[in-house]
Amino acid sequence: MSTIDRRTFVRAGLALAGTGLLTACTPGEIRAPLILPTSPRIGEVEARRRTTGRTHDFRFTAQAAQVDLGGPQVTTWTYDGSVPGKEIRVRAGDVIQAELANRLPADTTIHWHGLALRNDMDGAPPLTQDPVAPGDSFSYRFIADTPGTHWLHPHSGTQLDRGLYAPVIVEDPADPGGYDHDWTVVLDDWIDGTGTTPDEVLTRLRQGAGGMGSRHGMGGGTTLGGDVRYPYYLINGRVPAAPVTFTARPRQRARIRFINAASDTAFRIALGSHRMRVTHTDGFAVRPVDTDTLVIGMGERYDVTVTLGDGIFPLIALAEGKGATALALVRTAVGTPPPASILPAELDGELLPYDRLTPVEHVRLPAKAPDVEHRLDLTGGMMSYDWGINGLPFDHAQRLLIREDQRVRLTIRNRTMMWHPLHIHGHTFQLGDTGPRKDTVIVLPGRIATCDLAADNPGQWMIHCHNTYHHETGMATILGYEA
Ligand code: C2O
Ligand code: CU
Repeated sequence: MSTIDRRTFVRAGLALAGTGLLTACTPGEIRAPLILPTSPRIGEVEARRRTTGRTHDFRFTAQAAQVDLGGPQVTTWTYDGSVPGKEIRVRAGDVIQAELANRLPADTTIHWHGLALRNDMDGAPPLTQDPVAPGDSFSYRFIADTPGTHWLHPHSGTQLDRGLYAPVIVEDPADPGGYDHDWTVVLDDWIDGTGTTPDEVLTRLRQGAGGMGSRHGMGGGTTLGGDVRYPYYLINGRVPAAPVTFTARPRQRARIRFINAASDTAFRIALGSHRMRVTHTDGFAVRPVDTDTLVIGMGERYDVTVTLGDGIFPLIALAEGKGATALALVRTAVGTPPPASILPAELDGELLPYDRLTPVEHVRLPAKAPDVEHRLDLTGGMMSYDWGINGLPFDHAQRLLIREDQRVRLTIRNRTMMWHPLHIHGHTFQLGDTGPRKDTVIVLPGRIATCDLAADNPGQWMIHCHNTYHHETGMATILGYEA
């Protein structure tokens, strides 16, 4: 296997500059031996991971189903008939063994978003595995040693904008706990089964029908609008008229894990009459910080704790720039629930910026000068719908080359008029010098995000915008380990 891998060369549409620095602007070809998902190195690294030796078996059947969103009935694609799919919960170091049975009329896979797992289980076809064809199945098996709030979803076309997503919670044995309830809140924007499929949305966007979505913010001109206007916004698969209700007793403490599984919507989240204490983002602990509200981009996660008051409170997610909300209820007393249209004052309160988030000591990446730096300019525009990186649409031959044990700096510069939630597979980065550890970062128009990571997980890894439509039209590239 090793000789085969070493003889496997890929064309890369990028060129190496003198210092081992890869530049994106010089067209050319490099031929580099890569550590592929099939390389024996992947198993060697897995064998080094700390494991409890406990294995959990899961089964996901990807299938069309009719789903009740709390009024609207939609026919969509699901895991096992429900939206969201059932939550997976393991302890850090446990082995996840998950069988994916594909009963969809299209190829699919499962990507484990947020888990720095072995490359051949990353579920990014055709890079890390062959797509799973209709009627076929695939068995994922890996050590889940990345604690935190994560999730799973397909990595094929626009499938994420159907109902194919589920939470993946990896409990941290070192977590101090101190809460009475542990709730998962999955946010989504919804169109499938309402007369337009996500594939049709993509077609219209490509035709320049950008008018589908509001290009203007609400409430003072947010910069976080989207390209698509959705008929529904959901929390845990429900519209605001039929919200999910979390019940507790007054003065109890709840941990709430927010996951943004939407395709084109940032949400501003708040719990009416409460401050939220933010404890984690993308699974990594931050120094606890209190806020009224925060914005969560597609692919991001936030964990907060709240000490509950006495009453019925709206847990609200405002779809930024879209003039609509998703809703759940937190109930600690009898009474009348707030109306579905409620907009609690916290939404206009203190908003948490990234620079108020600092990692706790043990998750901070030790300071080190980068061995290699890659620049990713986010490019393209709404009317031409030509999203890309460094002016190029995604091509499977692209590589940002790195080597094992390097410190890598990704400098992500947004040269477009839209915001983008950039996501990297298999790694987490430190944002700036003092920022949080994350795997997905919102980059506003004209802004730069500096993401440092330790190259400790060999393989071939996708980097892409987590806007489904930007990803699908080309805002993606590949971080590739050289052998
Ligand atoms: Cu959430 Cu490439 O994925
Ligand atoms: Cu984008």
